[in-house]
Amino acid sequence: MGKIIVQGGARLSGEIAVSGAKNAVLPVIVAALLSEGDCVIQDMPQLADVSTICDVICELGADVEKINGKSVKINANNINNFEAPYDYVRKMRASVLVMGPLLARLGKARISMPGGCAIGTRPIDLHLKGFEAMGARINMEHGYIAAEADRLKGARIYLDYPSVGATENIMMAGALAAGTTVIENAAEEPELVDLANFINSMGGSIRGAGTKVIKIEGVTSLGGTTHNVIPDRIEAGTYMIAAAITGGELFLENVIEDHLKPLIAKLKEAGMQIEEKGTGLYVRGEKNMKAVDVKTLPYPGFPTDMQAQFMSLMTVTQGTSVLTETVFENRFMHAEELRRMGAHIKIEGRSAVIEGVQRLTGAPVKAPDLRAGAALILAGLAAEGETEIANTFHIDRGYDKIVEKLRGVGAKIQRS
Ligand code: EPZ
Repeated sequence: MGKIIVQGGARLSGEIAVSGAKNAVLPVIVAALLSEGDCVIQDMPQLADVSTICDVICELGADVEKINGKSVKINANNINNFEAPYDYVRKMRASVLVMGPLLARLGKARISMPGGCAIGTRPIDLHLKGFEAMGARINMEHGYIAAEADRLKGARIYLDYPSVGATENIMMAGALAAGTTVIENAAEEPELVDLANFINSMGGSIRGAGTKVIKIEGVTSLGGTTHNVIPDRIEAGTYMIAAAITGGELFLENVIEDHLKPLIAKLKEAGMQIEEKGTGLYVRGEKNMKAVDVKTLPYPGFPTDMQAQFMSLMTVTQGTSVLTETVFENRFMHAEELRRMGAHIKIEGRSAVIEGVQRLTGAPVKAPDLRAGAALILAGLAAEGETEIANTFHIDRGYDKIVEKLRGVGAKIQRS
């Protein structure tokens, strides 16, 4: 298994191009299953998860043709298989998103129950509640979830929690259902808005994506389109913290500042200089950043996907900060690894209390999940000496060329 080795101490300086958003491109690729035409998807990040989701839709009968490293052409006119194999769903929870399009196109879907993962149990009860409201019959058997519907009917669905995945799955099912579907207490993430724009460009009729109430008028069929994936706000946020934690300065190309408001506010509070320049962001860290408190919330609140990276920064700032994780019940796995590097962190239920230290020291650590792995790279950039990070497959699921991008701005980082 590959490792990433980081020699700490380098002050980063230069420009990084941000890639397309992982959490937008995954549902967009799945939504191509709704179309009977050619869908060209561009500005895609090169990630393990993108390859996996392409394998999943191929298994279902879609044609996927790589145009170049960042574009694919998908044609799902002849999809014929309604079962997503266990191996894929086990590898990547986002595979459950195929249920909506399969029910909409084939009237059937059979996927293995997604296992929990490092950050929590992550059930899909809200996805299934939506499908049942639309007339699907759901059965759990032998570790599989089987769903059937003659033709999905539009329904009014209230989500107990603004789940991103449930909102996306129901939106895709509603796109071809008979009548109108209204999702209330919907998630508002930018990636979901990108998905709605993609479906509308295929001939769909979705209004209100990005607000709490989304209205979907079902149509009888959807055609082809060309779509450019939005920039990855979490990748951008990760590099903002790389500048902060090394006291460096970076220009991040391809950033939508509006998608990063809570993180920008918090990093400015901690002492960072951040300003929008054209289609990018200029960010500059200061020595001795200040400790600030953060509570993760569904969008437009502070993103849970930035909590681990922010914790790394807080371990080397002056003062004590409290990070509260309200979205997932077990998303502090990185704390244990950061402690090995000399961080002072105490976990109290859903909160982590971090007392800043002068310096971290490099150590052998293990990435427990995707964002925790990124957080360990960030800590390694600031630590004294060498940090060796194992289980880097987690990191490669969600970061496009992270080693090359950091090395390009002066980080002493390599794979072993
Ligand atoms: C998406 O996951 C993202 N993944 C996650 O990013 C992100 O952390 C999460 O949204 C929250 O923003 C993708 O978009 C591929 P949820 P998702 O459904 O859809 C509970 C990353 O690092 N819940 O909004 O799975 C659930 O247990 C990943 O890029 C139910 O209870 O997130 C969790 O506590 C990690 N029942 C909370 O809601 C359900 O039916 C948020 O989950 C569904 C969810």
